[in-house]
Amino acid sequence: MYYPEDLIEEIRIQNNIVDVVSEHVQLKKKGSSYFGLCPFHNEKTPSFSVSEEKQMYYCFGCGACGNVYTFVMEYENYTFLEAVKYLADRAHITLPTPELSEAVKRKIEYKQQLMEVNREAARYFYYQLYSERGNKALTYLDNRGITETLRKKFGLGYSNVYRNDLYQYLTKQNYSKQVIFDAGLTNKDKKQENTYHDRFWNRVMFPILDVHSHVIGFGGRVLGDGNPKYLNSPETKLFEKSRNLYALNIARTSRKSNILMVEGYMDVIALHQAGFNNAVASLGTALTGGHAKLLKRYTDEVIIAYDSDEAGINATLRAIPILEAEQLSVRVLHLGEYKDPDEFIQNNEPKAFEKLLETAEPSFIYQIQRLETNYRLKDPVHKTRFVNEIAKLLLRIESDIERDNFMETIIEKYSINQSSMKKLIADIGKNTGIISQKKNNQPKTKKKPSEDGLFLAQKTLLTLITDKKNLYTVIKDHLKPEEFTDDLCQRAASYIYNSYEQGQKIVPATLINHFTELAEQTKMASIFNHKVAYKHPLQLEKIVNESIKKIKLSNIEALSRSIEKTIELQKLILAKRELEHLHISLNDG
Ligand code: CTP
Ligand code: MN
Repeated sequence: MYYPEDLIEEIRIQNNIVDVVSEHVQLKKKGSSYFGLCPFHNEKTPSFSVSEEKQMYYCFGCGACGNVYTFVMEYENYTFLEAVKYLADRAHITLPTPELSEAVKRKIEYKQQLMEVNREAARYFYYQLYSERGNKALTYLDNRGITETLRKKFGLGYSNVYRNDLYQYLTKQNYSKQVIFDAGLTNKDKKQENTYHDRFWNRVMFPILDVHSHVIGFGGRVLGDGNPKYLNSPETKLFEKSRNLYALNIARTSRKSNILMVEGYMDVIALHQAGFNNAVASLGTALTGGHAKLLKRYTDEVIIAYDSDEAGINATLRAIPILEAEQLSVRVLHLGEYKDPDEFIQNNEPKAFEKLLETAEPSFIYQIQRLETNYRLKDPVHKTRFVNEIAKLLLRIESDIERDNFMETIIEKYSINQSSMKKLIADIGKNTGIISQKKNNQPKTKKKPSEDGLFLAQKTLLTLITDKKNLYTVIKDHLKPEEFTDDLCQRAASYIYNSYEQGQKIVPATLINHFTELAEQTKMASIFNHKVAYKHPLQLEKIVNESIKKIKLSNIEALSRSIEKTIELQKLILAKRELEHLHISLNDG
């Protein structure tokens, strides 16, 4: 953790969750809670509740829950640190700057300067577009159907016809020649020393922003035909092409379940104009692992909609394994007769694209289709090779069910014998070691069902002791925090036990601060949003006893697996018998 816990807590307290949520969701007070339409799933009647007292939110529809940090992380797709910065800023709390070495400080300052000069350049290009000289660029954009709203949204601009127009302007603003050059905005004159020319002139300018909406570079398109069609900023300290995606700053907050990957700037803008604000493009480079990691932060599914030409198909085939390596599920869109998404949008209603999206094919099917074009299937030798390739692709699918389903579709389509295919997969799997690895993992997955009941038992007890101190005083003598088997439950238990022992109030929202991963926060919040239903005190007693027994039994079983000496084993058997007779009576509580 970068910041002290007290500070994290102070920031949380200074950001009332009701106010923060209200900035995005219309809330109405009902009883002790506020209700609104859940921002995390589609619904018509409000099931999203915010408790001012608990400083937590909970959706009865989709189960989303957490504290103010969780909310900001989920809503804005922020990391924990980004959420801390955002909320600190909101509450006008200055975060301490960590002690940095001089060298690191200089590096940060330098990046800051590159950012500033880029921003200034973007302003200048923008201003030029609306000046008289920019008229032809404006007409060009008009002709391509880009509205004023979208021009502004993407900050489009125009670079002048003069050779050092921007350079003059920026030096007048006191930016040094070196900084302007390092930002990639100028070229050095080959003959005259210490002379610079603008890199971009007479082009429509597309500022490139990082996810935090800092200008980090530019793409510039010629007006009409000319070479190169697009000129981009070079790689700089700021502009790392393999770590940034065009329009991701917008797409990451779109409430869509996937991200559309396209080739070009114009494709992105056309799609956003038609309402598909989840479209992004890699920046004049092939998709990299860096891009895939970046995407994984914001989505679980990517739909590739590259150009329909040969280059686009090849780029798609290269992109699929790169994305899948980051556990992204991938679909591919067929644009039919249209060369790229931009052309499709210009010629069809947005609804038609919506329909088209529904037909996007799973990457597996797409790959097989492409593969098929390399073989003459009437030729037995070719068909054998083809089937071999299919088996290899099938093996890459991790889920058994998914693999079986795809196999069924494929063997039917190409009339392949099922048992031969199964055998082939097993053989290839064994040779590559994939199958035996999977077998080793099996015992783990088998245990799952009983583990869920175990987790529920822990959740139930934690909820109960949080709500009722008298229950805590009874239960604490029978169950220690370290006996909780689930890591998060154990941490929650320690927190609750400690707070009670020190006479402090239990604030689940505080405990959530201790976790920086969204998944952990959500799980922790769900522990405290659990409802334990019972009608009669005796029912409650039964629930408590059964839960404690379940947890203790699981501990004993875990121990017995690791113990080798018979004597110790006998002790365990005794403990197990004792457990059977355990009964905690609650009627005095
Ligand atoms: N590109 C590039 N340099 C080039 C050509 C292309 O960087 N010389 C990148 C740009 O990001 C461009 C993308 O590759 O947006 C796709 O190229 P292309 O299909 O040629 O461009 P379109 O987006 O179709 O451009 P337009 O519609 O303006 O012709
Ligand atoms: Mn194109």
